[in-house]
Amino acid sequence: MSIEIVSTAPIAGQKPGTSGLRKKTPVFMRPHYLENFVQAIFDVVGARGKTFVLGGDGRYFNDRAAQVILRMAAANGAARVIVGQGAILSTPAASHLIRLHGTDGGLILSASHNPGGPAEDFGLKFNMPNGGPAPEPVTEAIFGRTATLKEYRILAAQDVDLTAIGRVALGDMTVDVVDPVADYAALMERLFDFPAICAMFAAGFRMRFDAMCAVTGPYAREILETRLGAAPGTVINATPLPDFGGLHPDPNPVWARALMDEMFGADAPDFGAASDGDGDRNMVVGRGIYVSPSDSLAVLAANATLAPGYRAGLKGVARSMPTSAAVDRVAQALGIGCHETPTGWKFFGNLLDAGKVTLCGEESFGTGSDHVREKDGLWAVLMWLNILAVRKQSVAEILTSHWSSFGRNYYSRHDFEAVDAAKADAMATALRGILPDLAGQHLHGLTILSADEFAYTDPVDGSVSQRQGVRIRFTDGSRIVLRLSGTGTEGATLRLYLERYEADPDRFSLDPQLALAPVIQAAHSLARIAEYIGRSAPDVIT
Ligand code: G1P
Ligand code: ZN
Repeated sequence: MSIEIVSTAPIAGQKPGTSGLRKKTPVFMRPHYLENFVQAIFDVVGARGKTFVLGGDGRYFNDRAAQVILRMAAANGAARVIVGQGAILSTPAASHLIRLHGTDGGLILSASHNPGGPAEDFGLKFNMPNGGPAPEPVTEAIFGRTATLKEYRILAAQDVDLTAIGRVALGDMTVDVVDPVADYAALMERLFDFPAICAMFAAGFRMRFDAMCAVTGPYAREILETRLGAAPGTVINATPLPDFGGLHPDPNPVWARALMDEMFGADAPDFGAASDGDGDRNMVVGRGIYVSPSDSLAVLAANATLAPGYRAGLKGVARSMPTSAAVDRVAQALGIGCHETPTGWKFFGNLLDAGKVTLCGEESFGTGSDHVREKDGLWAVLMWLNILAVRKQSVAEILTSHWSSFGRNYYSRHDFEAVDAAKADAMATALRGILPDLAGQHLHGLTILSADEFAYTDPVDGSVSQRQGVRIRFTDGSRIVLRLSGTGTEGATLRLYLERYEADPDRFSLDPQLALAPVIQAAHSLARIAEYIGRSAPDVIT
């Protein structure tokens, strides 16, 4: 087999700060586009003699892209690639394989929770030997390289058969096709009390898991139905489809409407859950009760020692700044550290590697632990099942007793999407300008305690991240956070995060939007949202 050296031209990169390349699928399919980015990765991280993990969430072009990457890895001198059967690997499973085999990193094909298909989104990112997304200096070097490289190397060869598990050769490179589920399922079996969960299902516990026609279907079927004995059919939308069945594979009350309806309907199962396109996000729902991701993180932290993998206790916890402070109260009670990081999973990596935290999470349906270096949807679901099985209580009972012990952090996020970027910037600038004068002001029955813009100094490497969101705190513990999305694709997305602390158990039944009404009004008055962006109602409320 011969190595071809093909000329290429610079490709359009990505804005700084993003961990991989995410574009419309037709852009990725342009001649030499994918190849240019893959060559840039190999040029920056080096391929000769190295071993990589490869797999993706099964979206349209996943299979073709995997074949190109294999041929390019071989042509660049890689020794071995471990690839999921059918080029399938959930993001957390890929992270685990990288760590398990001590590889030199991995290439993950996914655009996460974004829709997939010929006209939708595709993505590719590189994860480091620790299993986590490449940090900014590496992604910056890769994007820089895409603009200067003039040629790429690819092996002239036929497709590798990825349908059968086993070892094949591609030129001088070894390709190991592995079961995408087996090693991940074994890890889950070590972390959680499978016998207790099995007994709970055997006693009639009913669950619904919506895999949203995305990558977790085979994982959830094997773990929940086969290993844990959940009733066949517990997992729905279980076959990964190239276009996710036309669904928007983002597990939140808006996009997982069908699951919410079932959980709030007559004859609802005991427990419901969903995960996203590549399996790193999760949503958890009880019968007639929704668990906000911030509350979920707090409950998992408070009950972690019920799971065998966390019996020794937690080293610490971390949450992104806009995530509610519910977990802070748990950390305080446990006497462990609680870290507040900027938005984005990458900020947890150093804390996990340094052994400073065991659990971490974000309000955006991401929860995880030090078992991998990505957030992990099924992991969170299994942790909940473990807690339910040991405590023998319903989700509603567990949440209510949690709030009685710690108080309740009412929480909501309001998203204003596809906003004119210039108008959003003008609003942010105006708000920044008034921050120094806000302390002590009264509005809508609230008194402002402090107002600032969040900056973060990484306690491990000392790097500083400025301008990570405006936060306004009130004397009663309420809080407003405003920031502009770093992942939106159309114009700007304004995210407004709202929080209010309530210690009185008699008020726990309030609807969050009602409980938050004064905080919402205060946010609109302070940021003058309607005046600047011409809108007063959000597009998505979670
Ligand atoms: C969003 C979420 C953030 C998450 C990221 C990637 O980023 O808010 O918590 O880490 O997606 O899943 P944003 O669009 O807000 O920048
Ligand atoms: Zn995802």
